[in-house]
Amino acid sequence: MADTNQTPRPETAGETRPAVEFRDISIAYGSFVAVRDFSLAIAKGSFVTLLGPSGCGKTTILRSIAGLVDISAGQISIGGKRVDDVPIYKRNIGLVFQSYALFPHKNVFDNVAFGLKYRNVPKPEIARKVAQALEMVRLPGSERKLPSQLSGGQQQRIALARAIVFEPEVLLLDEPLSALDANMREEMRVEIKKIQKATGITAIFVTHDQEEALSMSDQIVVMNAGRMEQIGSPEQVYEAPATGFVADFLGKANMLPGIVSSSDGARTTIALAAGQTVSVAAALPPGRAVTVVVRPQKLSVGAVPSGNRLTGRVVSTSYLGGNAIYEIDIGGGTTIRANTQISGPVAAEGQTVELAFDAAACVLLDEHGQRIPVLPGRQSNAKTSSASTSPRQQ
Ligand SMILES: Nc1ncnc2c1ncn2[C@@H]1O[C@H](COP(=O)(O)OP(=O)(O)OP(=O)(O)O)[C@@H](O)[C@H]1O
Ligand SMILES: [Mg+2]
Repeated sequence: MADTNQTPRPETAGETRPAVEFRDISIAYGSFVAVRDFSLAIAKGSFVTLLGPSGCGKTTILRSIAGLVDISAGQISIGGKRVDDVPIYKRNIGLVFQSYALFPHKNVFDNVAFGLKYRNVPKPEIARKVAQALEMVRLPGSERKLPSQLSGGQQQRIALARAIVFEPEVLLLDEPLSALDANMREEMRVEIKKIQKATGITAIFVTHDQEEALSMSDQIVVMNAGRMEQIGSPEQVYEAPATGFVADFLGKANMLPGIVSSSDGARTTIALAAGQTVSVAAALPPGRAVTVVVRPQKLSVGAVPSGNRLTGRVVSTSYLGGNAIYEIDIGGGTTIRANTQISGPVAAEGQTVELAFDAAACVLLDEHGQRIPVLPGRQSNAKTSSASTSPRQQ
């Protein structure tokens, strides 16, 4: 089991071992520990995103898979084989970086063919595989062009072709879209996903862009200061953030501090610092300090049928067509954001409005910023992925 076979080989059909597995790894740069006690098992063929703010250790983790940084503790396996002592050039990994890192004086063909030549693939096969890869990234016939004759998006497609042409076991993508303009970025998101699905390759993607992460991933690993904060599907991490950090990092979240005022064992009333109350399906002791987290999209403004209600004064309105974003002062110095569909006239600044939201749309955090479980059936739980070890829970 603990062998360090130097040649990770393609898996045979039906294997269930993870494509990549980290067990309790730590990575230090000198005395600075950039990644701490990180464990994760990545299922073969999945698209996993490491998401987190600048400096949280995303690139460091990615580089450790490629062997570009050494781990100081723990172990990494690729395709079930430990690679701690396997040098970079013997790991069968495709890499795409933010900077396209193409060889500027080599044409597209030679750039894409690089990994194949390196692996002594016969010439006719190289030509066939390069053509295939260029087809896949939708730049067929560009073999003779130089990188300088291509746009940023096209260069990134070539970098992608170069990374997948030798059918690596794992594809690592480090913020590959961040150098592109907004339109190209969206197009490339779709493109990368399509290619990943078509090839069935295991992809590990790094970004600090939550939209990118939500739209592309099977699983999102939210990182904070060198540690895993939560792992889950996009829906899990968005709808049921395990911590205040995750709630805040994944889009806007209204965080409303309060104190439990009463509970009948099934429903709990929370007195918000803003002076109003919220009712949730949970059993919590009176006096307990909690934070109610509710997404702007879960708030309706105006006449609404059921659920929790808050009253506030509109501070600002941004009309966006079918919906509007309101900043609403609910008292006690608390302003909350609502992103709501418009069913009647748009509320004007200064207007007093009623806000409503379903109790099931709330997440409760304790005084340490950890999610408090609500009663079963009332809210989807951010379950630990079966393909992972436990992130911080509750
Ligand atoms: N070669 C290095 N020497 C010393 N410290 C480093 C080195 N590389 C990274 N670090 C530090 O390790 C931490 C993690 O860096 P890393 O590049 O993994 O972050 P990141 O999450 O990829 O950030 P970004 O979103 O800015 O790319 C940072 O605090 C960084 O300053
Ligand atoms: Mg980085």
